[in-house]
Amino acid sequence: MNLYNAATSVVDWSEKYHNSFLITANDEVLDFAVKNCIDQGLPDIAVSAAQGKLLNLVAQSIGAKRILEVGTLGGIWMGRALPHDGTLITLEIDTLHAKVSREENFAKAGLENKCKVTLSAAESMTNLHPGGMIIVDNVVRYGQVSDMSVNDVNSVGVREMLATLKEDKDIDATTIATVGERAFDGFMYAIRK
Ligand SMILES: C[S@@+](CC[C@H](N)C(=O)[O-])C[C@H]1O[C@@H](n2cnc3c(N)ncnc32)[C@H](O)[C@@H]1O
Repeated sequence: MNLYNAATSVVDWSEKYHNSFLITANDEVLDFAVKNCIDQGLPDIAVSAAQGKLLNLVAQSIGAKRILEVGTLGGIWMGRALPHDGTLITLEIDTLHAKVSREENFAKAGLENKCKVTLSAAESMTNLHPGGMIIVDNVVRYGQVSDMSVNDVNSVGVREMLATLKEDKDIDATTIATVGERAFDGFMYAIRK
């Protein structure tokens, strides 16, 4: 049995069931962004609707006015969480992803004034203020991160991050594993003390 493909039809059914109560159906702006990404050939690696909504709710619950997103793809969840005077800086390394999100998805959502898509590679984030929060997605990776026989660049990167955080007395963090539309993965929630 391949544990890396742990998602089952029960899991798929469960997420769809909950979403049918909790996620707005026929969300014209979101539906456009999702379809547009597919039509433009962007990779199918966006957050699920449930994950996007979690990020959106967390941002709203802390009253985030300034959000830094690393890796825009074509997503609009973070931009939508902003109050009228909020700002999203979203960094994207890929020219096509940046163009599609900036010129099409954010524009269609009416978010272009609050959301600045910057074509740039993020390297490190050292400017988090005390009380500031970071959520890092894709840190479980089907269990591969904790499987030392797997040494792909993504798994190794997460291990390096964990080792750094263990020594960093200013950051407090926890990982939550998830199973759902995006199979078996997880996110890390971290704050600067
Ligand atoms: C999983 S997707 C992001 C999902 C998206 N935020 C959403 O709402 O669905 C990862 C994105 O990060 C971009 N990326 C990868 N490495 C990067 C880096 N060092 N700096 C900026 N963007 C990066 C990729 O091109 C890709 O578009």
